[in-house]
Amino acid sequence: MLITFEGIDGAGKSTQIKKLVTFLTGENREVLTLREPGGTEVAEKIRQILLESRHEISPIGELLLFSASRAELIQEVIVPALAVGKTVILDRFFDSTTAYQGYGRGIDLHLLQSIISISTCGIVPDITFYLDIEPEEALKRKFSKTSIPLSFENEELDRMERSGTEFYQNVRKGYLELISLNKDRFVSINALQPETVIHHQILAFLKERFPA
Ligand code: TYD
Repeated sequence: MLITFEGIDGAGKSTQIKKLVTFLTGENREVLTLREPGGTEVAEKIRQILLESRHEISPIGELLLFSASRAELIQEVIVPALAVGKTVILDRFFDSTTAYQGYGRGIDLHLLQSIISISTCGIVPDITFYLDIEPEEALKRKFSKTSIPLSFENEELDRMERSGTEFYQNVRKGYLELISLNKDRFVSINALQPETVIHHQILAFLKERFPA
């Protein structure tokens, strides 16, 4: 089974993934947790270019780099893991590409679709949890434990995070659009709720969709 988590940066995906992994492991499920971009030696190098680079990267270059990282992870790790019955939990997958490169950077959605199918070998998640939060709220969370001034232009942020408020508003719009088009796969959760409430909602949805 492939479970993916989506949401804008700061939505709290990592916390929820950790809680879910602990739960599933306790149920004796064999779980593999991965994140995009990254997860293989080559994909981690691509991640560095994408997030740490101080250079400009063109929208198409960025799209192809995310897709190259995904192709590596899918072929080297995800396909083999699914084949032996593991539960794969993936922090971001192709919905991030649609939201960030499509709605955020403005790349044509049909073009995106064909690149996504090439990079994923047609693999689609069984269920996708989307943690919904306003960009400004997400930024506040990120800086809540520091004295760093609150701004999308801050040097402490990675290359993607420095893209600005309007970009993140478009990304969120993209996610909301994706959910309305894929209701059977997406579960949208209010990320402002307490962590344990969100965790129990995730477990309840999993039980409802996959009763066995
Ligand atoms: P990461 O540090 O993993 O962020 P987060 O903890 O928010 O998941 O950085 C991944 C960044 O890359 C994040 O800003 C989202 C972006 N991204 C894309 O723009 N397109 C993609 O296809 C993927 C997978 C990620």
